[in-house]
Amino acid sequence: MSAPSHFNLTARVLHWTMALLILTMLLVGVGMVSSVSQRPWLVDLHRPVGIAILLLVIVRLANRLRHTPPPLPADLPRWQSAAAHASHWLLYGLMFAMPLIGWSMLSAGGYPVVMFEGFQLPPIAPHDPTVYAILRGAHSWLAALLFATVMVHLGAALFHAWVRRDGVFEAMARGPRQKGP
Ligand code: HEM
Ligand code: HEM
Repeated sequence: MSAPSHFNLTARVLHWTMALLILTMLLVGVGMVSSVSQRPWLVDLHRPVGIAILLLVIVRLANRLRHTPPPLPADLPRWQSAAAHASHWLLYGLMFAMPLIGWSMLSAGGYPVVMFEGFQLPPIAPHDPTVYAILRGAHSWLAALLFATVMVHLGAALFHAWVRRDGVFEAMARGPRQKGP
């Protein structure tokens, strides 16, 4: 079977939905640690949206492993395709790590992991202040790494869209065009 020219619909819908959710989470995260008055509702939003990202990335990884993605252009310099693959797997790693660290950090701190009123998740880490401190630090540092990686990824996507015009952006932005009669 020949390689596809575009990401499948599931991959595209999940990519753009999750991009929006992750950017929201980064902003909400920074907002809740910098504003005491806004903190309560921002934290209430941050926990369930973070867990939703964890559920979505499981579906996304399964879809990604079952469907071959479109190949990068053959004339792309080797270092650029290596960087693209490495950064995509780094993004996958962070999409799993961030929510899992958030959940285990609250568990280690002995805080309830409330999703919405009347429903909370069980702890997934032992109640231990040292573990809490390590995970709390990791949550901030990895958030910064995620933000930086997304910015480089955005720059690369726009480079493909506006400078190289090589179809890489369209492969994620839309489905294949129907051929005319
Ligand atoms: C993709 C998922 C996530 C992203 C991108 C994210 C991002 C962030 C960011 C940027 C901060 C501010 C860090 C700082 O400036 O120090 C933060 C704080 C926080 N996050 Fe997340 N987070 C995610 C998932 C979660 C989850 C699933 C939970 C819990 C269930 C969680 C719980 C928290 C808590 C409680 C804080 C504030 C801690 C404090 O004020 O001491 N996060 N997050
Ligand atoms: C939080 C934000 C984002 C994350 C976590 C993310 C993650 C990813 C990942 C993991 C891939 C590899 C394909 C896959 O397996 O799903 C990918 C591909 C892609 N992303 Fe993003 N993305 C984000 C935001 C954006 C934005 C804002 C743009 C453009 C404006 C963009 C454009 C693209 C394009 C064009 C591809 C296809 C690259 C290729 O063919 O190899 N992404 N993204």
